[in-house]
Amino acid sequence: MDLTQKILDLKKEKKAIILAHNYERPEVQDIADYTGDSIELSRKAMEEKDAEVIVFSAVDFMAESAAILNPQKKVLLPCTGARCPMAQMLTVDEIKRAKTLYPDAPVVVYVNTLAAAKAHSDICCTSANAVQVVQSLDAGTILFGPDRNLGEYVAEITGKKIISIPEWGFCPTHLLFQPEDIMILKIQHPDATVMVHPECSYETRKVADFIGSTSKMCKYAKESNSKKFIVGTENGIMHRLKKENPEKEFIIAYDGAICPNMKLTTLERIYTSLKEEKHLIKIPETVAKNARDALERMFEVKS
Ligand code: 13P
Ligand code: SF4
Repeated sequence: MDLTQKILDLKKEKKAIILAHNYERPEVQDIADYTGDSIELSRKAMEEKDAEVIVFSAVDFMAESAAILNPQKKVLLPCTGARCPMAQMLTVDEIKRAKTLYPDAPVVVYVNTLAAAKAHSDICCTSANAVQVVQSLDAGTILFGPDRNLGEYVAEITGKKIISIPEWGFCPTHLLFQPEDIMILKIQHPDATVMVHPECSYETRKVADFIGSTSKMCKYAKESNSKKFIVGTENGIMHRLKKENPEKEFIIAYDGAICPNMKLTTLERIYTSLKEEKHLIKIPETVAKNARDALERMFEVKS
């Protein structure tokens, strides 16, 4: 029996679902019950009432959010090494330090954070709803972390004062996109539309026609009249873009923009994860409670 069939059989036996992020390997996206951006995956994990096990094919903070929101389900991360480096950049000490400097400013944390940081925040956001979350707050100054680029993007649109915590937080994969590379591609493909993720630098965002979360880019590509796109986000999204739009052309803005952490989930690891029910993500309830409140406040914001 081939590996795919073995996974499908185990999935049925264990009442499991597989959720995969838009950056996962093509074969992982193809076997998943649902592929999406970080907010869609969190929502899906809550909606699947009959599922007893969720195999989270993504990185640590996404599986943690699912475990926080679904304490009664078994949330499995197939590879414990799949950790988002940006999520490690905002520590609880940093949040406390910033709060002493700006005691009246609400703390908004990007979902790309560990559970302990979420537990010390007022509200979470993702790249899909960061603008609406910040707009929903009755404050002119906001502590925001860890992604400085996303924070600057939100400040540009909302006009609010964003204090980045830490000052330097970034995604190593998205910083690989350079405006010069995109300008050269634009000269070579003058009919192409440029889409980039808000984790890209200010200079890169400035040469884009569309800025959005991974799933928002997928939606935009589908609905746009444009037939050709230059894509400024992690390479894994190319699989979904091409699959959903076979008649359109997609050009990655930088070939090397690969998030190695997202590639650690393989079909073999998904199989072992389901078979041995590992690695179970458990967040102590003392931390989970506050983190859940911050995530639930985010879901209340219309976006
Ligand atoms: P999305 O929520 O847009 O999928 O982004 C998650 C992420 O990690 C981007 O690098
Ligand atoms: Fe983290 Fe960047 Fe990878 Fe997204 S692409 S998971 S932000 S390192």
